[in-house]
Amino acid sequence: MNLLITGGAGFIGSHVVRLFVKAYPNYSIYNLDKLSYAGNLENIKDIERAENYTFLKGDINDSTYLGAIFNKYKFDSVIHLAAESHVDRSIEDPIAFVKTNIIGTINLLDQCRKHWGDNKEHLFYHISTDEVYGSLGSSGLFEETTGYDPNSPYSASKASSDHFVRAYGETYKIPYVITNCSNNYGANQFPEKLIPLFINNILNNESLPVYGDGLYTRDWLFVEDHALAIDLVFHKGKIKETYNIGGFNEWKNIDLIRLLCNLMDQKLKRDEGTSEKLITYIKDRPGHDRRYAIDASKINKELGWKPSVTFEEGLDKTIDWYLNNNEWLNNVTSGIYKEYYGKMYFK
Ligand code: NAD
Ligand code: DAU
Repeated sequence: MNLLITGGAGFIGSHVVRLFVKAYPNYSIYNLDKLSYAGNLENIKDIERAENYTFLKGDINDSTYLGAIFNKYKFDSVIHLAAESHVDRSIEDPIAFVKTNIIGTINLLDQCRKHWGDNKEHLFYHISTDEVYGSLGSSGLFEETTGYDPNSPYSASKASSDHFVRAYGETYKIPYVITNCSNNYGANQFPEKLIPLFINNILNNESLPVYGDGLYTRDWLFVEDHALAIDLVFHKGKIKETYNIGGFNEWKNIDLIRLLCNLMDQKLKRDEGTSEKLITYIKDRPGHDRRYAIDASKINKELGWKPSVTFEEGLDKTIDWYLNNNEWLNNVTSGIYKEYYGKMYFK
């Protein structure tokens, strides 16, 4: 098996690459990543010398490069994670999301079409998001049959790429599977997303910018549980199917932020209430989806997956990781990081 994993130097991709490299010594695993601001070889340093692993630095928007590596390595299957992944950035620069998430995905699909023909012994596995379903009211869950209703440039680009994956499956008979997952948290996440951003700001005594009224709801999943779900779907998922993946773990932002503040106070041995004082309500994110919550019963019933850690365990491990990896945090927040986040127009 020559397996191409894209975006493997990023947050979720690094956990997926590590899992596959360790669990499948008989697979040749190729990690294609352009090393954007969110890609970091430090995330996979421990497996960089593994015999079954090769890193390929490249851009999925470069179709000539993609043609060359597909010719050279004859990939049997693809797990596609490379993407622009941050909603706030998509509000600032939607075109970057169109380029990587839509056109980049089509570039990969085109290589699969050229190299695989109608041979069924392949798989294009697209890692997608629950954000394609839009926003829920105070009740209900996203099911696999929920209609697409994306509200941000990011989710519109992911919805579009999901449609192209299906279209290539129907038109060119590329075997595919898609998973739509909820909010991940854990080690290696770039400190622009809520949990690592707030950990970093608490460490630096900087304000914690809560968008709008803070009553927005997300369904949080520990990243290593997502990686295990991806392993299962890759090996046992049904072709042409979609599976929702979620943590059965809904939190209103402000409740999660208060929990995080309390845990940080304990771990940093600061007086109770110190971190909460940093909470600052600011202007809302435009197009902010009110609530996401996943019905993950299909993957649970059909493939036997469920999260292995509780939120309390996962959050505890996550905070410890950031506290123990100061150098990683300092490296990724050096340079233009501060200037960029200060300039976000709605912050
Ligand atoms: P991330 O931003 O941490 O990592 C993305 C990786 O893709 C980086 O290593 C980056 O260098 C690489 N990349 C970006 N553009 C590229 C290009 N043009 N060519 C090659 N490589 C490129 O993202 P993440 O949070 O790990 O998300 C991974 C995937 O999972 C994305 O497709 C995202 O939509 C999806 N997803 C994320 C979450 C979440 O909570 N983070 C939830 C559901 C789905
Ligand atoms: O649901 C899956 C999606 O989860 C993934 O597809 C995306 O790649 C990932 O970025 C994430 O999107 P969100 O927009 O939900 O994640 P984010 O961490 O940016 O925000 C989580 C919630 O916290 C959201 O309601 C916005 C809010 N927030 C976020 C930031 C960064 C704040 O209130 N303040 C902040 O500074």
